[in-house]
Amino acid sequence: MQIPDAFSAPPRLLMGPGPSDVAPSVLKAMSQPLVGHLDPVFVKMMEEIKGMLRVVFQTKNEMTFPVSGTGSAGMEFCFVNLIEPGDDVIVGVNGVFGNRMVDVAERCGARVTKVESPWGRIIEAQQVREALQKVPRPKIVAVVHAETSTGALTPVEEISRLAHDAGALFVLDTVTSLGGCPVKLDDWQVDAVYSGTQKCLSCPPGLSPVSLSPRAIQVATTRKKKVQSWYLDVNLLASYWGQERVYHHTAPISMNYALHEALRLVLQEGLENRFRRHQENHLALKHGLRELGLGLASQEGHQLWQLNAVEVPAGADEAALRKRLLTEHHIEVGAGLGALKGKIIRVGLMGETSKPENVTRFLTALRAVAGL
Ligand SMILES: Cc1ncc(COP(=O)(O)O)c(C=O)c1O
Repeated sequence: MQIPDAFSAPPRLLMGPGPSDVAPSVLKAMSQPLVGHLDPVFVKMMEEIKGMLRVVFQTKNEMTFPVSGTGSAGMEFCFVNLIEPGDDVIVGVNGVFGNRMVDVAERCGARVTKVESPWGRIIEAQQVREALQKVPRPKIVAVVHAETSTGALTPVEEISRLAHDAGALFVLDTVTSLGGCPVKLDDWQVDAVYSGTQKCLSCPPGLSPVSLSPRAIQVATTRKKKVQSWYLDVNLLASYWGQERVYHHTAPISMNYALHEALRLVLQEGLENRFRRHQENHLALKHGLRELGLGLASQEGHQLWQLNAVEVPAGADEAALRKRLLTEHHIEVGAGLGALKGKIIRVGLMGETSKPENVTRFLTALRAVAGL
């Protein structure tokens, strides 16, 4: 074959549902020479990553580390380690990622009861309460904190309390929330959580920060059956990410460099400042859209700051809008999915992307391509 030219990435403003823009220092960190995955300097960096993740997740959980793979790997990690065939699991479904949780839990052999809300709305604690009347002793109650497919942020404290009152573990998807709005594992008593690097942490995709509470570890380490995934078995991963440092699989070295730097930037900014920035830029976008006669499709009062489900202007072709934003303005936004396909475009203001000038640039481009 003829060898292709070296790949050259065009400049893009990543305003979709992820990946988000990445800071130059994160890209620089990734381009450093490799060291081995058991090299003492790498091991020291692993410990720093674990420590910084604990701050960002607001937890003291010892078992906090990045799983190799994207957010979906973190989702599988939580479910494969905690579910045994025949377990009852309650899952909140108000978009794509709740459905993915159902699929993953069923593949682990769980009997899943869905608690469903219309896309764009949150999962109400009352719905979980009603589900618990039908399934009083579930092993797990799981919800998606920030549903990226619809732009809704489900409040989880009450749901977590209900789960614990029923003797269940509470599992939370924070792929889109972590680093963009408060995520308080210990205050909210979350037992198992997973996230992704490519959203509000503004790091390339490839790692999934996870954390397990002592209760979740107890469940994972006292299973009757072996975890069906060798790669994601916490009993094995703990020997590498814990103090023993036994080889399990080769850690993605450069991805860990990137995450280390991305987390440093989060801590340098400060969590509260970072959340405020996300909120302010969301409100600026919402204000600008309102001036164009456009609204958000997600539930008022529960709208994500980092992902905006923008209604498509009347009569406009959604796919054509997105194409022109990309080709003429170099702005990537996301399509609506499932029930919202063709009705919304998903505009991310995540991590590095969440800047006033990007809000202005997007509104100007949208006005031009939609003729508003
Ligand atoms: C809420 C949520 N959960 C899970 C995932 C899956 O993550 P990944 O695509 O990184 O595997 C995503 C990805 O967009 C997400 O937004």
